[in-house]
This record gives sequence, C-alpha cells and structure tokens, in this order.
Amino acid sequence: MRSSSLLLLLFLTFLVGVCEVQGASDFRICAFNLHHFGDSKSKKSNVMHTLTRIIARCDVCLLQEVRDTQGKAVPLLLSRLNRYDAQHDYKAVASERLGRSSSYQEQYVFVYRTDTATLTGQYQYPDDRPGDVDAFSREPFVVRFKAPKTDIKEFVLIPQHTTPTNTTKELDALYDVLEQVKTMWKTQNVMLLGDFNADCGYLAKKNRKKVRLITGKSLYWLIPEKTDTTVRLSTSCTYDRIVVHGERFARAIVPLSASPFNFQLEYRLTEEQALEVSDHYPVEVLLKDNAYNVSFNAATSMSLYLFLLSHFFF
Ligand SMILES: *[C@@H]1O[C@H](CO)[C@@H](O)[C@H](O)[C@H]1NC(C)=O
Ligand SMILES: *[C@@H]1O[C@H](CO)[C@@H](O)[C@H](O)[C@H]1NC(C)=O
Repeated sequence: MRSSSLLLLLFLTFLVGVCEVQGASDFRICAFNLHHFGDSKSKKSNVMHTLTRIIARCDVCLLQEVRDTQGKAVPLLLSRLNRYDAQHDYKAVASERLGRSSSYQEQYVFVYRTDTATLTGQYQYPDDRPGDVDAFSREPFVVRFKAPKTDIKEFVLIPQHTTPTNTTKELDALYDVLEQVKTMWKTQNVMLLGDFNADCGYLAKKNRKKVRLITGKSLYWLIPEKTDTTVRLSTSCTYDRIVVHGERFARAIVPLSASPFNFQLEYRLTEEQALEVSDHYPVEVLLKDNAYNVSFNAATSMSLYLFLLSHFFF
C-alpha cells in the first residue's frame, strides 16, 4: 500500500517535471490578421477579451490590418493584455501607416513579452528602390529580436500582408527584402510571416514557379498546404504562412509545431462570434528552448532513477 502510493507520487512528479520542461521550452511566435482592428472593435468587450487570450499565448505576435486611426485601440489592447497576464510584461512596436491610398492604410504591430524577447532592431522597407518601384502596398516593417532562452538566440521577422490581387508579385518581391536584410544585419536567421494570401484564387498553381520565395534555396514553408487558416466555414484556404530561412533556423523550430490556432473551437465560439474577432485564425510556431535536449533528458533520467530506486527499496 505504502509503496504503491509512493510510486504514484513519483509518477506524478515525473509528469509535472516533463510538463514543466516542455512548457519552459516553448517560445511561441504568432501572426494574426485582425481584420480591421480599430476603434469599433476595441469597444467590443467580448472581442477584446478573445483577442487578449489569443495574444497572451505568444511571446511575439505580429498583428496585421491594424487600422487604428485614433491611436487608442492598440494601447487599450496592450493594457488589457498586461492586466490579463500579469506574469509577463507586454510591449508593442508599430510601423507607420502603410498603403497606396490615403483612405485605406494599415499598420504592422508586433506585440512582445519584454521578459523573453528584446527588440534589437527595426527597419521600414522603403516604398521605392532602384529596379523595384513600389513593389508592395504595405512595405514590410522588419524587426529583430534577441531571445536568449531560445536555441536560435536572435532572429529577424519580415511581416507581410499581401494585396490579394498582387499576391504573386509581392511574394516574389519579399525575396529581395530577405536578401537585403541578410546583408544589412549579417544574419541567416530570418522568418517571414503573415497573411500572404498564398492560396486559392490569389496564388494560382502556375504562378508558383515565378515566386522566388517558393523556389529559392533554404526556405522552409512551415504551415502545411491544405491547412485552413480562415474562420468562415465556407472557405478553406492556406492564406496565412510562416516561412523560415536557413537550415540553422529550421533546426531551431519545434518539429511540426507550425499550425493555425482555431480559437473558435478552443474558446467555444459560434462562427458569428468568431467572425467578430477576425476572419482569419492566427498562425503560430514554437522555437526550441536553448536547453531543449538537456533539460528533457535530465527530467527523464531523474524520474527513471527515482522509479528504480523505489523498486529496490519497497
Ligand atoms: C499592383 O502592383 C502595381 C505595381 O507594382 C500597382 O501599380 C498596383 O496599384 C497594385 N494593385 C493594387 C490593387 O494595389
Ligand atoms: C538535440 O540533440 C540532437 C542530437 O543529439 C542535436 O542534433 C540537436 O541539435 C539538439 N538540439 C538542441 C536544441 O540542442
């Protein structure tokens, strides 16, 4: 009786140990198209609550389609986030308002936990460059983060929300941004992410060979084809993507961790309630902890040791 309850105790300790190790190793990067996030959404308490829960899952979260003309919605979201998850301190860095027409503009916003990620660089890709005149509607706002607890340590994020009708061209042009950033910051560790509109009618199969971001070497498209990143039941398209550059970065990703986060299912919302939040799911990926192997092995061998010990003594 005594020995069996001790065994149970050891087993539970083992479980807790493993869970902690796995929990500790998660560094989550997310990309979320918020579908017209601004004044009117920020006044809907249920929408803000769901957004807060979603963003609080991420160490770094790229927000797209931020249309906060009054400049109040993002600060409000941030303060809700810091109240909701007091274990972390969240900050945001935003691009300028981007877009070809002055009546329709969007910002890229990165929300990040200052205790796990440090912003070490930011760069607004210019409107026009020689040989590449105005390639994007919303030029990438490129950022670099240092994350000492991850295996990769430091990485660059290139965001993009493509214009649906210009998807092929914009995705191809992202390759030039990648090349420039690699040279400028002397790094190979680059992730490209966002609502690429890279599927269904916007990126025809025959056009894919024209996109260097697809055909280029050492580029890993992590969100599997045929994954639905849209909320509407009537649509199923892999619009939202995460792409990493470089073998080193690819190895620093938790295998098969890239996927959409179905918040409708997770938070038991109706389709209508979910659509109030966005018509996209966020896409997410996990970076390996710097002690990914070590700590897991330590936990495993420790519990094995205790298990054997208990067998010998009881
Ligand atoms: C598509 O790209 C071209 C040039 O790159 C630009 O002139 C045009 O306005 C773009 N279309 C939209 C809808 O942004
Ligand atoms: C984990 O171990 C494997 C093989 O021992 C090694 O190839 C890999 O780089 C290690 N990963 C980390 C994050 O240390």
